[in-house]
Amino acid sequence: MHYVKRELQSLRGLLRQPRQLAFQVLNLAMIAMSALMLWRGLIVFTGSESPIVVVLSGSMEPAFYKGDILFLNNDPPPIEVGEIVVFKIEGKDVPIVHRIVESNFLANGTEAYLTKGDNNPMDDRQGMLYAEGQVWLQRRHMLGRAVGALPFVGHVTILLNEYPAAKVILVGLMGLLVISSKEG
Ligand SMILES: *[C@@H]1O[C@H](CO)[C@@H](O)[C@H](O)[C@H]1NC(C)=O
Repeated sequence: MHYVKRELQSLRGLLRQPRQLAFQVLNLAMIAMSALMLWRGLIVFTGSESPIVVVLSGSMEPAFYKGDILFLNNDPPPIEVGEIVVFKIEGKDVPIVHRIVESNFLANGTEAYLTKGDNNPMDDRQGMLYAEGQVWLQRRHMLGRAVGALPFVGHVTILLNEYPAAKVILVGLMGLLVISSKEG
């Protein structure tokens, strides 16, 4: 009798588990789909194929630090000198975040731009950052202009390096979070 009861209980457990599993898979799929829709929506809304990028080098310090997150917008109006843009050179994968230092029009009316990293001694033409023989950047190279930034990762890293006490505080905060989430 006891044995049968135990069997029934474990059977019920097995039946319940697949349902829970299915529920969790469904939940994950919903989250993934929402994220995807949000991303597609952002792409349409901003006109940029990559509306959020991470700064990968220190060439724009102190405006942006490595690890900062940038929000882009690729509106049609010409970009002005002084604006910060993200561009991609043909044949290279990594997007570059630099400032427009000169703007021009080509003979056929195409907008043309010269960029430079704030922290670099030379502009990107002299610095040979462009493709071979390339003199100007065109709009088709641009992922967009920077319209906002989340200086989180980059600045947190710097803070941690400059103020060792910040590390202690951060670890303490993380410990508190773990404890409170276990209790909650
Ligand atoms: C204008 O000229 C540039 C440089 O020769 C070229 O890359 C670009 O595709 C041209 N644009 C148009 C719209 O013809």
